[in-house]
Amino acid sequence: MENQLEETLQKAMEKYRRTAEMAARDGIIPYKSEHGKWITSPYDGNSWWTGGFWSGLMWLLYTYSQDEFFRDEAVRVGELLTAEFRSFRYLNHDVGFMYLLSCGAANKLTGAEQAGQDTLHAAHLLMGRLNPVGFIRAWNGDSQKGFAIIDCMMNLSLLFRASRMTGDPRFEKAARIHADTALREFLRPDGSVSHIIEFDPETGKRVREHPGQGYCLGSQWSRGQAWGLYGFTLAYHNAEDERYLDAARKIAANFISHIRPDGLTDCDFCQPTDEERIDNIAGAIAACGLLELETITQDAGYRGAALRLVDGLIAHCCDWTDERCGVLTHCTASYHDDGAGRHTNIVYGDYFFVEALMKLIGKDPMLWL
Ligand code: GLY
Repeated sequence: MENQLEETLQKAMEKYRRTAEMAARDGIIPYKSEHGKWITSPYDGNSWWTGGFWSGLMWLLYTYSQDEFFRDEAVRVGELLTAEFRSFRYLNHDVGFMYLLSCGAANKLTGAEQAGQDTLHAAHLLMGRLNPVGFIRAWNGDSQKGFAIIDCMMNLSLLFRASRMTGDPRFEKAARIHADTALREFLRPDGSVSHIIEFDPETGKRVREHPGQGYCLGSQWSRGQAWGLYGFTLAYHNAEDERYLDAARKIAANFISHIRPDGLTDCDFCQPTDEERIDNIAGAIAACGLLELETITQDAGYRGAALRLVDGLIAHCCDWTDERCGVLTHCTASYHDDGAGRHTNIVYGDYFFVEALMKLIGKDPMLWL
């Protein structure tokens, strides 16, 4: 098994090496692959929430290979992302995804001083989104002042990191406020999580749940389940609060019970059976979260479940041809809206697939912490 993982990583690295040269030549931040080329995000230019994953993928491959090409490509994209600080208007709670994996990774892996400043800049932006009634505001629309989403659990790591970097507890306190609200309002009794909850922005009182990117209101969007699983695991890593670990374990149990026999992941665990919709990004994220849970709990069952997911991806959904620029296929951005991609190759699927492989061979630099 170890050999197969190393071989897959080696093949993936060679493919990204070829296709990253195309991205660098075009001066773009890859979002997804179409007709043998990387193309940019469908919305909001370089401020779209996924920009950091390309940089993060390059940092993982640099860690694996020590090939300076990957470091230079990560830095190139990191500079495009920090340029977005100037316009600011499209940035939202996803600055965690964007900057932990770009300047955050650069600072962690190379000690680059400016990258550390940029990481703190991003943390201040995230901190500025805290509504002290109890949540970090997700998006910027006028009708969304009270919106919080489960994905944000991943972004909280940026705040914990900023407190460690500065010795100032403010950032960590903000992260805990949001995580406690997520624990109370997003986690359901069956171990699934809601995607979007709207709060009254004046009082913090729950107003309603919204269906978000899943199949329907009250359903289980699989990527949301994976964000919750990995996000609460990271919250425990950062805060050592047992309640977050309990939540991660409940979400993990529910996710594991929905892993398909072929190891792939349905887009929503409540979706109808008459039309297949897969989101392998969810499976790749969940594999990473499960492997972290194994490290924390020493429960080998989590590794077994992660291996079922990764084996399924390797067996059925890796593209080694030049038809696609990345490797992981059958990634789906949203159940009902195909605008950001359905059953295709999307950059954050590639990122989490490689992170899972790196974890499995014991070489992950853990860019989230
Ligand atoms: N964070 C948005 C998504 O997972 O699509």
